[in-house]
Amino acid sequence: MALRKLVAGNWKMNGSRGALAELDAIAAAADGNPGLDVAICPPFTLIAPAVAAAPGLSIGAQDVHMAEKGAHTGCISAAMLKEAGARLAIVGHSERRADNHETDAEVRAKAEAAIAAGLTAIVCVGETEAERDAGRAVAVVEGQLDGSVPPQGKGDTLVIAYEPVWAIGTGRTPSIGDVGEMHAAIRGKLATLLGAEGAKVRILYGGSVKPDNAAELMAVADVDGALVGGASLTAAQFVPIIAGAASA
Ligand code: PGA
Repeated sequence: MALRKLVAGNWKMNGSRGALAELDAIAAAADGNPGLDVAICPPFTLIAPAVAAAPGLSIGAQDVHMAEKGAHTGCISAAMLKEAGARLAIVGHSERRADNHETDAEVRAKAEAAIAAGLTAIVCVGETEAERDAGRAVAVVEGQLDGSVPPQGKGDTLVIAYEPVWAIGTGRTPSIGDVGEMHAAIRGKLATLLGAEGAKVRILYGGSVKPDNAAELMAVADVDGALVGGASLTAAQFVPIIAGAASA
């Protein structure tokens, strides 16, 4: 079953108000390709200004806290994101798993909080280079899914992003065969965890998606879109990726 593709940009800790000028052309590309979904996840401080600048575009967050509110200095709740106009929240990005020691259980709790607040959770998984070299890539990702997929996830509230850690920001990508193998394994695991609903959950590929490889990656079976870091920062790079996904 071909699912509606989602191309999401993750600006990470980049961008200032001036960068919102990029959203004009990105929103125009989203309008021009109504057969897929386009989202941008800027830093927290730019969520509300991004929503104001591009009301038609889906704006998301890069993280969310699992608690509704309380004594968690420096953290942001799902309700706060929703109020700011966010529609999605990335959780469990490998940079947060590494930098902030986030566990699968915490990632699942964050995804549950996002869904409970009416946001779509993008749960990130992916193996390190050492794990792939050891032949453990699929087992590692399946373990992350076991621990971090929220059981109430549905096709319209949950997205999985497969991002090999060694492909992020490096210009390297897995072979098309390896991407296909991993996405098929993720689809199988989602069926085990979520039953029939697992077939409706989109599985994005992320890690060095660029204009020149987007169409090929997006054409792989069970690749239902892309999570794009560096190449989402400018419309010049991101718009051709949207077009590549639309053509796949
Ligand atoms: P990249 O990052 O596209 O810059 O490799 C992807 C990501 O971390 O989401």
